[in-house]
Amino acid sequence: MSLTPIGGRPHHELRQKVTTASLRERKLRHEPITCLTAYDYPSARLIDEAAIEMILVGDSLAQAVLGYENTLSVTMEEMLHHVRAVRRGVKHALLLADMPYGSYQTDSKEGLRNAIRFVKEAGAEVVKIEGGEKRVDLIRRIIDAEIPVCGHIGLTPQSVNVMGGYKVQGKNLSDIEQLMRDAVALDRAGVCCMVLEGIPREVAAMITSEVGTPTIGIGAGPECDGQVLVFHDILNLTFAPPAKFVRRYGDAAELIKTAVDNFRADVKSLQYPADAESYHLPKETKAGLDTVLARKSAMRR
Ligand code: KIV
Repeated sequence: MSLTPIGGRPHHELRQKVTTASLRERKLRHEPITCLTAYDYPSARLIDEAAIEMILVGDSLAQAVLGYENTLSVTMEEMLHHVRAVRRGVKHALLLADMPYGSYQTDSKEGLRNAIRFVKEAGAEVVKIEGGEKRVDLIRRIIDAEIPVCGHIGLTPQSVNVMGGYKVQGKNLSDIEQLMRDAVALDRAGVCCMVLEGIPREVAAMITSEVGTPTIGIGAGPECDGQVLVFHDILNLTFAPPAKFVRRYGDAAELIKTAVDNFRADVKSLQYPADAESYHLPKETKAGLDTVLARKSAMRR
């Protein structure tokens, strides 16, 4: 008996919890892995119910939700607050939390302490860390503490000031060699998955076939084992032109604008609330109130 109804999406209640082990199984059977970012309870619920396998509370929270200019400003406390909200909405997906800038660059003891906070205080299952070879010691310490780690190489937004902007990485032979070394180092360190961001598809394809770790691409072409996009990007909620790799799957900005315009117009024109949207007194109370009001007005006369 198939548990998959028409449309290919398993029934919510029959779905199995996604684990780090099941990501590897998906890579082995060439089943593409899906991942979206989420930052709050309702979006987390909707994404989870749509059978997306991985939900990432990215540090893109900074721009997508908090209105910061880049990811550098977002703090541990802000990330924890949003991971907790997402946790409450997720049942089946694997929940990843992004370690924000400054939470692991100082020393590995501090990095480990912050990774543990995501698990203990917010219910994250995996933490994501930007950087390749140079993060291996930290990653090993975190994995030793029983916390799965997702790597992130290529265009790493926390290095925006070093990269001189958000530029595609790995375009010349020496950069490609460095990326390969980074990917292999992460693979050997035992990460459960790695994000490949903003690199040519040929390079992402080479990495994906070289490593046993599932690769999750964003702006890295179709040969990755999975794809991740930012929730607000796919819904046109970013107030900026999208990057080349973004595909818009809906226009939430238009939907919200229309709803808000209609609410305003209805209130101004006394169309809202209608009688059906108002509460009424019980009949007996109403009758009693009418009597009291009639008596009062008779006494005034
Ligand atoms: O912060 C984020 O949203 C990310 C993904 C885009 C991979 O790191």
